Amino acid sequence: MADGSRAAHWESIYTTKAESEVSWFQQSPAPSFELIVQAGATSKSVIIDIGGGASRLVDNLIGQGFEDVTVLDLSASALAAAKGRLGAHAERVSWIVADATSWARLERGLKIGGHAIIATFALDGPEKCSGLPVVRYDSASLGQMLGGTFKLIHTQRHVHATPWDAQQNFQFSMFRRER
Ligand SMILES: C[S@@+](CC[C@H](N)C(=O)[O-])C[C@H]1O[C@@H](n2cnc3c(N)ncnc32)[C@H](O)[C@@H]1O
Repeated sequence: MADGSRAAHWESIYTTKAESEVSWFQQSPAPSFELIVQAGATSKSVIIDIGGGASRLVDNLIGQGFEDVTVLDLSASALAAAKGRLGAHAERVSWIVADATSWARLERGLKIGGHAIIATFALDGPEKCSGLPVVRYDSASLGQMLGGTFKLIHTQRHVHATPWDAQQNFQFSMFRRER
């Protein structure tokens, strides 16, 4: 999908659907938040939520005192929704509208010793997200894709319940950059 149409696709989702009308809505983004804590993050850690959309993860992080939080997404409307929800607290967050595939590669964005927590559809998860075909991973295939620079620290499955109570199998994997 070309960059422009990719952005237009996600903009159209966020401008036509309410927060709780998208399959990925989570009232509490507990799996991501718990893995951030498990990685040993402190309030001074530098955290970026890539493809964060209008997720409430940023609310949790700010609420728990994290001081250096960035949310990056293709959709300006998604970020505007999150900012609106946070009100004055939104000023404590850095917001970036960008395409992650051309913005910065993981090796450039993550320092040695830093952690990447990546949530994907599991191998037995849905074949599409929001009408777009996806690549599904387990931790082994994701590790292979990332290459030897990243070491798998932890992986777990997560069954996500959509707002209409369908079940979707996710795989959360945490990698540490080794060199
Ligand atoms: C399935 S949604 C998940 C949103 C959020 N992580 C959550 O849990 O609510 C995928 C998100 O990735 C964003 N996205 C898709 N492709 C992207 C890209 N190439 N660069 C940055 N963001 C992207 C979309 O705009 C959308 O917000």
